[in-house]
Amino acid sequence: MTDRRGLYQRIAPYYDILDFVGETVNQRKVRPQLLDGLRGRILDAGVGTGRNIPFYPPDADVVGMDLSNAMLRRADRRRQKLGVSLGLVASNVCQPPFPDDCFDAAIATFLFCVLDDGDQLPALRELARLCRAGGEIRILDYVLPEHPGRQRTARLMAPVVKFLFNASVERNTEQYVGDAGLTVVERRLIAGDFCRMLVLRHA
Ligand SMILES: C[S@@+](CC[C@H](N)C(=O)[O-])C[C@H]1O[C@@H](n2cnc3c(N)ncnc32)[C@H](O)[C@@H]1O
Repeated sequence: MTDRRGLYQRIAPYYDILDFVGETVNQRKVRPQLLDGLRGRILDAGVGTGRNIPFYPPDADVVGMDLSNAMLRRADRRRQKLGVSLGLVASNVCQPPFPDDCFDAAIATFLFCVLDDGDQLPALRELARLCRAGGEIRILDYVLPEHPGRQRTARLMAPVVKFLFNASVERNTEQYVGDAGLTVVERRLIAGDFCRMLVLRHA
């Protein structure tokens, strides 16, 4: 299994720089769409350096969870700078320390494209367990574009993205949705077709 924790511990101080182009060109534009309309207690799984913090609904009670303490420290700094209240918890998304049904919604931005194939189903099952019935799980990831030109660009970038972030545009997340007891209520390609948003609910 990939040492994702070690990787993100090492790159945490430089993450926002390494990610600057992707964040500026694509990610920053799609984050508000992912968070739009969410309410109550929200889990931000794989919170990273807290890139979603500026887009949290003002009255939401958000908990950020991440495998890497170094990434969590960056998120805490961003939280303080923006004066936002946010709980932060160090945990693997496949073994989160929360009881069943304790969140109204969960989000995961660019987490599933980092998780190995063997972790896709356990991670989806845990998000399903943590979210109350009727609550939404919203997942945003880079995917392989359908447009031939953009697909070539994505394939060219693939080794760099794998090396820097252990990320892939060819994860098979959607294949596990049913086995996790979830159903896709919306699938939207955004940022050209570089990114895909999945909205999931209990089946
Ligand atoms: C590509 S970054 C995305 C960070 C952030 N969500 C964003 O949108 O910028 C992936 C994050 O997932 C975290 N991560 C990787 N595997 C994880 C796991 N099994 N459980 C929890 N977090 C994990 C990494 O430490 C990293 O902070």
